[in-house]
Amino acid sequence: MRSLYTLLLSLAALSAAALQPRAGYACKDRSAAPGWHNLGPARPDRTLTLEIAFKHNDFAGLHEQLLLRSDPESGMYGRHMSKEEVEAFLRPGEETRDAVLGWLEEYGLGEESVRWSPAGDWAFVTVIVEKANRLLDTEYSVWHKDGHTILRSGAYSLPHELFAHIDTIQPTTDFSIMRKHGALPMSDEDVTAIEYNAAATEWGTCNTTVTIKCLQKLYKTEGYVPRAVEVNRLGVAAYLGDDANLDDLNEFLSLQRPQAVGHANFTTVPIANGTNPQTNLSGTTESALDIQFTTGLTWPTKITFFETGGTRPHLYDAANQTGNANFLSWLTYVSALPDEELPSTFSTSYGSEEVTVPIDYAQRVCAGLAALTARGVSLMYSSGDSGVGYASANFCVNPNDLSQKMFLPNFPASCPYVTSVGGTQNIPNEVAVTRFGSGGGFSNFFARPAYQEAAVSRYLSWLGSDLEGWYNASGRGFPDVAAQGDRFQIVAPAYLTVKSSNGTKVGLVGGTSASSPTFASVVALLNDVRRSQGKPPLGFLNPLLYRRLYLGLNDITVGSSFGCNTTGFPATYGWDPVTGLGTPDFEKLVALLEFI
Ligand SMILES: *[C@@H]1O[C@H](CO)[C@@H](O)[C@H](O)[C@H]1NC(C)=O
Ligand SMILES: *[C@@H]1O[C@H](CO)[C@@H](O)[C@H](O)[C@H]1NC(C)=O
Ligand SMILES: *[C@@H]1O[C@H](CO)[C@@H](O)[C@H](O)[C@H]1NC(C)=O
Ligand SMILES: *[C@@H]1O[C@H](CO)[C@@H](O)[C@H](O)[C@H]1NC(C)=O
Ligand SMILES: *[C@@H]1O[C@H](CO)[C@@H](O)[C@H](O)[C@H]1NC(C)=O
Ligand SMILES: *[C@@H]1O[C@H](CO)[C@@H](O)[C@H](O)[C@H]1NC(C)=O
Ligand SMILES: *[C@@H]1O[C@H](CO)[C@@H](O)[C@H](O)[C@H]1NC(C)=O
Ligand SMILES: *[C@@H]1O[C@H](CO)[C@@H](O)[C@H](O)[C@H]1NC(C)=O
Repeated sequence: MRSLYTLLLSLAALSAAALQPRAGYACKDRSAAPGWHNLGPARPDRTLTLEIAFKHNDFAGLHEQLLLRSDPESGMYGRHMSKEEVEAFLRPGEETRDAVLGWLEEYGLGEESVRWSPAGDWAFVTVIVEKANRLLDTEYSVWHKDGHTILRSGAYSLPHELFAHIDTIQPTTDFSIMRKHGALPMSDEDVTAIEYNAAATEWGTCNTTVTIKCLQKLYKTEGYVPRAVEVNRLGVAAYLGDDANLDDLNEFLSLQRPQAVGHANFTTVPIANGTNPQTNLSGTTESALDIQFTTGLTWPTKITFFETGGTRPHLYDAANQTGNANFLSWLTYVSALPDEELPSTFSTSYGSEEVTVPIDYAQRVCAGLAALTARGVSLMYSSGDSGVGYASANFCVNPNDLSQKMFLPNFPASCPYVTSVGGTQNIPNEVAVTRFGSGGGFSNFFARPAYQEAAVSRYLSWLGSDLEGWYNASGRGFPDVAAQGDRFQIVAPAYLTVKSSNGTKVGLVGGTSASSPTFASVVALLNDVRRSQGKPPLGFLNPLLYRRLYLGLNDITVGSSFGCNTTGFPATYGWDPVTGLGTPDFEKLVALLEFI
C-alpha cells in the first residue's frame, strides 16, 4: 500500500498548490506526479532552461510524404527528403513565432536570449525560477522520488491565446524517469539455474552463452562482408552517464571477433556535456553491451557513439547522474547534422513509462523522430524489460483514476515512427525472454497506425476478451520485431556478476538492451547491402516490415510479456505484443529487398 499512499499524498499536495490562474491565463497542463514528494518551493534565483515547443507548420504534410516514401508499393519508395525539405514542414508559421516571441518579450526575454532547434520548432530559454514562475503563472518546487531530485512546477498556465501556438513547455509536468532497458547482470542463481546442455551440437554453448558467432549463425549474417563502409554509419545512443571503453572492446573482440582487434574503433560524439573517458576504470555495462555487440556484428561498419549528458540542466542537483528523459537534447543535436553525416541506423536502449511523460511532450518528441526517419534513418528502440508493467513499482493503475488498473506501455518504444525491439532467448529454438518480461502492449498516446492495422486486429480478435480493461485496444501495438535478449557474453569493467572469482571481466548480461543493438546491427548490414547496390538506405522501416519484410523474420510463438502481476499478453503466430513480427533472417531479408 505504501506507494499508493504516496501517490495520493502527492495528488493532494498538487491540488493544494493549484492556484486559480491569473486573468487572461488558463491552465495548460498538470501532472499527477505519481510517487513524487513535493519538498517545497525552489529557490527563486536558481536557473533552468525552458523548452518551448512551437506548433509545427504542417506536420500532417510531413507525415503524408513520409508514408508515401516508405511504402514499398509506391513509385516514390526510398526517395528520402533532405534536411531542408523536412524542416520546411516543421518550421512554425510567422503568426506563431510572433505571438510566442511577443509574449517572451513582455518578460524581458528578447530574441537574443533564445536558442533554437534546427527547424526553429523548439526554443530554449534560460531563466531564473522567479521569472519562470511569473511567465507560467506557477510555482516551481523541488520534487523527490527514489533518489531523484528535480525541479518541476507540476502544473503551468499560459495566456489563453497562446494555446494555439505552443504545444508544450517543459520542464513543468515531465516526471518521467529514464530507465536503461537492461544490461541486467545474471545473478548466481540465474547462472546456476541454466541447464548446461552436455551434448555437443552444431550450436555449441549458444543456448546458454550468446556470442557474436551465435548471433551471426542464428540471424544468418555469417560471412557477409560490409562494402559500403565509407557511407553507411550505425549510431548508438547513450545516456545517464553510460560510457564505452575501447580497451574493453578490444578485449571483447579478441575473444569474439579476432579479425577486428586493433582495427575496430568508434567515434564518440558528446551531447549536452556527455563524456566518454578512456581510463582503465571507465566504461559501464550498458554501453559495453551496445558497443561490443554492434561492433562485433557489423565491423568494419563505422559506429558513432552519441553520449548525451546524464543530467538535464534543470536537474536540481547536477551531481546526481540519475537524471530524466533527455531524448530532446539528442534529437536536437542529431537533427542538426547534415544529411551526409546522419547515420542511417540508430539503436537506443532507454525509455520511460509512457504514463510518466506528458502526452504533448511525448507527441512532440515522437514527431521529431518522424522527421529523422523522413530523412532516411531507421530508429530501433528497446521495448522495455518489465513486460506489460513494472510489478514492484505498484503503479499499474491509471494515475487519473486510481481504481482503474492499467498496463504501462513504454515511451519512445510506443512512438509509431520507431521500430521497437522485444527480447527472445534460447538458440536455435527461440521463445520470448523469461528472466524478465519483454516490454510490449498498446500505447495510450498514439493511435494504431495504418501499417499495422491488419496485424494488430488479427491479434486482438485472437486474444478475445482476455485482459480487457488493462490496455487500450485502439493504441499503437509494440514491439514491432524482436531479437535475442539474454545471456549475452560481454567484457565489462565494472563487472558485477558472480563468475568473476578468477578475475575475468567476462560476464553474462541481458535485457531488451541487448535486443535493440542486435536488430539494429542486422538493419545496418541491410543498409550496407542497399548502399553498395547504389540504392538509398531503408529509412522508416515499419511500413516495409508489416507489408513485406515480415516474410524474412522468424515468427516467435512461445512466451508472454508478463508484468503487473499478470501473465501479460501471450505470444502467438503472426504479430504479437511480446516479440512483434519476429527475429531477423538476414539472407531472406536481403532476397526480399532485391526487388524493392
Ligand atoms: C542525490 O542522490 C542520492 C541518492 O542516489 C540522494 O541520497 C541525494 O539526496 C541526492 N542529492 C540531492 C541534492 O538531491
Ligand atoms: C579511436 O577513435 C578516437 C576518436 O574517436 C581516437 O581519438 C583514437 O585515437 C582512436 N583509437 C585508435 C586505437 O585508433
Ligand atoms: C555544459 O557545461 C557548461 C560549463 O560547465 C555549462 O555552462 C552548460 O550549461 C552545460 N550545458 C549543458 C547542456 O548541460
Ligand atoms: C589503472 O591505472 C592506474 C593509474 O595508471 C593504476 O595505478 C592502476 O593500477 C590501474 N588499475 C588496473 C586495474 O589496471
Ligand atoms: C504484485 O504482487 C505483490 C505481492 O503480492 C504486491 O506486493 C504488489 O503490490 C503487486 N503489484 C501490483 C502491480 O499489483
Ligand atoms: C535451451 O535451453 C532451454 C532452457 O534451459 C531448454 O528448454 C532448451 O531445451 C534448450 N535448447 C537446446 C537446443 O538445447
Ligand atoms: C486510447 O488510445 C486512443 C488512441 O491513441 C486515445 O485517443 C485515448 O485517449 C486512449 N485512452 C486512454 C484511456 O488513454
Ligand atoms: C574465468 O571464468 C569464466 C567463467 O567461469 C570462464 O569463462 C573463463 O574462461 C575463466 N577465465 C580464465 C582465464 O580462467
